[in-house]
Amino acid sequence: MKALVLAGGTGSRLRPITHTSAKQLVPIANKPVLFYGLEAIRDSGIRDVGIITGETGAEVRGAVGDGSRFGLSVTYIPQEAPLGLAHCVLIAREFLGDDAFLMYLGDNFVINGIRGFVDEFRSRRPDAQLLLTKVADPTQFGVAELDVGGRVIGVAEKPDRPKSDLALAGIYMFTPVIHPIVAELQPGRRGELEITDAIQELILRRADVTSHVITGYWKDTGKVEDMLECNRMVLEGLAPRMSGAVDSESEIIGRMEIAEDAVVVRSRLVGPLSIGPGAVVTDSYVGPFTSVGPGCRLDSTEIEYSIVMDRSSVSGVGRIHNSLIGKEVDISPAASAPRGHQLIVGDHSRVRLDH
Ligand code: G1P
Repeated sequence: MKALVLAGGTGSRLRPITHTSAKQLVPIANKPVLFYGLEAIRDSGIRDVGIITGETGAEVRGAVGDGSRFGLSVTYIPQEAPLGLAHCVLIAREFLGDDAFLMYLGDNFVINGIRGFVDEFRSRRPDAQLLLTKVADPTQFGVAELDVGGRVIGVAEKPDRPKSDLALAGIYMFTPVIHPIVAELQPGRRGELEITDAIQELILRRADVTSHVITGYWKDTGKVEDMLECNRMVLEGLAPRMSGAVDSESEIIGRMEIAEDAVVVRSRLVGPLSIGPGAVVTDSYVGPFTSVGPGCRLDSTEIEYSIVMDRSSVSGVGRIHNSLIGKEVDISPAASAPRGHQLIVGDHSRVRLDH
């Protein structure tokens, strides 16, 4: 069995972070979201992984390498443009050969891995198996309709009138019967080759399509709010680790990870939170559900429920919350009067200021 991990796409909902970075590499508790998926794949017993990459391919390759650090063997499959999930299966045809495969959207996150899902497929051997999860607004997702036995009798991509509240969680199992269907597929409403359409065609051809509903935590981390919420979930289950240096004037409350070479001086840290390697926190408050990336500098700052990415600096600007701050960002007070905000922010940035 192989795995096909989708790490292309444009990440438009996470702009401007994704102008320069792959959305799958945004860190959750100081680890790229994609790595959680690769570890879950490894833990399900799969070794051979094909990763579909797009514009950010070089960055994904740089982060994942040959996969050996995950116990995986990784093959990269570049996609020339984001032409749809089924297009990814099409261009991976040679890599997949005649093996059954797991397809995993690289920006999806499940908390307790996928071992049960993969094992169920291995023992039942349906033609395809879908991971489903209950969602509040099914119109935003692929939606499955089940019969009483849990067999899938229909799927639709972002339907106006959903037949159930069960969304396709972006994690699928397929046998090679999917290939001839994908080869004949026509683009859907958004101009892409939709995997949901291929699954619907499988069902119409009376294939055995089964489902597995997860009750645990699942998130598509495509939006900032989802990213922060996912960061919160992971930090809540964090194994405490204190490798950095915390001075005696600092106060540490609750569960946290302070990585090697991190320095905390005259600060109050209230977990759960994660401080990355080499970060320096001085005269600051870092509150719950915050991840501070490697090499960051926080000085005379209050921050909570936020993600600060690598080598960014925040100093003397009052309280920051609900924020996703990219790499090598500098946030500091204006040097002199008149009072006002000076902003140098990238395209598609969203800045909320007090009046
Ligand atoms: C894709 C799939 C959709 C699925 C979702 C899960 O949507 O097309 O069926 O429910 O992933 O995250 P997209 O993120 O491309 O809008």
